[in-house]
Amino acid sequence: MAGAGTEEQLAQRLEELLSVERFSPPAAFTEQALIADDGVHAAAAADPAAWWAEQARALSWFQEPTVALDDSNPPFYKWFTDGTINASHVCVDRHVEAGNGDRVAFHWYGEEGEQRDVTYADLHRDVQRMAGALQARGIGRGDVVGIFLPMIPEVVVAMLACARIGAPHNVVFGGFSAESVRERMEFSDAKALITVDAARRKGKTAPVKASVDAVMGDLPALESIFVVRHTGEDTPMTEGRDIWMHEAMAAAPAEHEPEELPAEHPLFILYSSGSTAKPKGILHTTGGYLTGVAWTHKYVFDLKPEEDVWFCSADVGWITGHSYIVYGPLANGVTSVMYEGAPDYPHKGIWWELCEKSGATVFYTAPTAIRACMKWGPAHPAEFDLSRLRLLGTVGEPINPKAWLWYHEVIGGGRCPIVDTWWQTETAHIMITTLPGAQDAKPGIAGTPLPGIDAAVVDEDGNEVPRGSQGLLVLRRPWPGMLRTLYRDDDRYVDTYWSRLGPETYVVGDAAKMDDEGYVSVIGRIDDVLNVSGHRMSTAEIESAIVSHEVVAEAAVIGQADEDTGQSVAAFVILQGDLVGDDELEAAIREHVAVRIGKLARPKRIIWTDDLPKTRSGKIMRRLLRDIAEGRAVGDVTTLRDPAIMAQLQAQVSGDEG
Ligand code: PRX
Repeated sequence: MAGAGTEEQLAQRLEELLSVERFSPPAAFTEQALIADDGVHAAAAADPAAWWAEQARALSWFQEPTVALDDSNPPFYKWFTDGTINASHVCVDRHVEAGNGDRVAFHWYGEEGEQRDVTYADLHRDVQRMAGALQARGIGRGDVVGIFLPMIPEVVVAMLACARIGAPHNVVFGGFSAESVRERMEFSDAKALITVDAARRKGKTAPVKASVDAVMGDLPALESIFVVRHTGEDTPMTEGRDIWMHEAMAAAPAEHEPEELPAEHPLFILYSSGSTAKPKGILHTTGGYLTGVAWTHKYVFDLKPEEDVWFCSADVGWITGHSYIVYGPLANGVTSVMYEGAPDYPHKGIWWELCEKSGATVFYTAPTAIRACMKWGPAHPAEFDLSRLRLLGTVGEPINPKAWLWYHEVIGGGRCPIVDTWWQTETAHIMITTLPGAQDAKPGIAGTPLPGIDAAVVDEDGNEVPRGSQGLLVLRRPWPGMLRTLYRDDDRYVDTYWSRLGPETYVVGDAAKMDDEGYVSVIGRIDDVLNVSGHRMSTAEIESAIVSHEVVAEAAVIGQADEDTGQSVAAFVILQGDLVGDDELEAAIREHVAVRIGKLARPKRIIWTDDLPKTRSGKIMRRLLRDIAEGRAVGDVTTLRDPAIMAQLQAQVSGDEG
């Protein structure tokens, strides 16, 4: 295989390939591709709304929509308003009805080597029972249901069961703390929570239900907690509120008809970080969302449900998991791989072992994971047969050309196209990338806007900047999967995305450049949002967690460039009174952040300081903090209230490092 040979040979080949600017689709790929020429972009551009309406027909509707886009009240756009649909029918029932019930929906692999194949018929059976179990507890249309589960098939069943009864789900990533779960349940007035006895991670077992109990106590809206039995751990159950999911399902009827819901019925809320401490409840609805995820999943990844095995390494708790583990693959009737554990447990080649075992053909992961694999070395993937892979994808952050080439050579054996997919929790589905059988890929550059999508790079007034110049990335045309609002906060929705350039221009929050061929390279966030290992976090949220520690007076958080994780969290911390920071306190603050938000938000570095660079109006100048942390000459300090602070901080940082 192309990944073989000595590490020096590989390094030399990668070095040579660094000068290659574009990779055309291999002929063998194009010959079998669903889309082999890019005429589809022009076809969609002629009448984008009509084109999307055409794609919507690929779903199963109770009532086919006659209306595509309703743009009468921007920026509150609606799609397919007179259609009726149910996401669980689209994802499960229709495949069973078409005679594909025996097809595997998920090859599930547990951390300790367990394997379970879940077919579409299995999903159908379990989703019906779970939907009935939820309804038996009085949960119905419009009631929010929290889901806090590890990567086990039950999480998919839970999401689809909610969809079946019209109860929007609110999934919380398993890596978040119990306090974060509580906060998200509180903000969304969740009526029920579906969680688990305990979760496994790298050979250890964490008691999930008990830690949720410790903080959940007094939420008036939360009437029921369903507990999935996974590890068999002893689990505290509160009489009247808590119920074992397997008992509730056994008591529910075997059959359950999906609710016929309007296309604009809310499918889910997913909390994501913004520029304030309070996470944003991003709201997605049903018909448009499914149209967008199903089309992009099928055509960006060139998937043929009868032949392909799809492996997305994300967690269901993020939008990537919602759209490309659950709704996209299931809407398309595809067979997927689902893995419970970490990429380095029980060994650093586990993903490749699972690719071999499952016969995975298309693999989708994050650049940060590729960089970790590079560090671990090509010997791990070389142990396994990856010859069935034919297409690779990345998401979550810009990918540096070196990592792109390593992925291409070592994992893809030099023969698999790579799609670098740009999108966000808000967009719900891929927006910018290359169609792998039709367009060249350029390492480090995401690609062009997909058919039906109008993306541009503009200046502060909304005028397009010259090709090659940096500007704000905007989306100038509504798309079916777009967020509809922020849950119960229309004002924040308008303010966050539409106040800068008006209700017809969605401001993404990223800086970007577009080249002469319309390829977009995304540079990074323009707001106070961090991207650590492809996980989105808010500086304000982490600051507020740090400041809630009893000895801390003030804190400023920045994202510091990090070669492994893209960015890492660095915190400048001012202690109360005369306290002096030391290693013990640093460990205590890190632990405090883990409890408040989750381990992923822990600062990698804490810099003790007596003051922070602030403008005369009191705003912290994070740009200067980044200069300090990254050891650069500091930029313009003329707007600072007290410019002397910069010298102090610099002395402090060089003292730390010395
Ligand atoms: O900054 C962009 C970056 O991730 C942000 C969206 O984060 P989130 O909502 O958590 O969704 C991540 C998974 C879709 C974007 O605003 N981003 C995402 N994909 C890319 C990217 N940056 C560069 N290239 C990408 N392919």
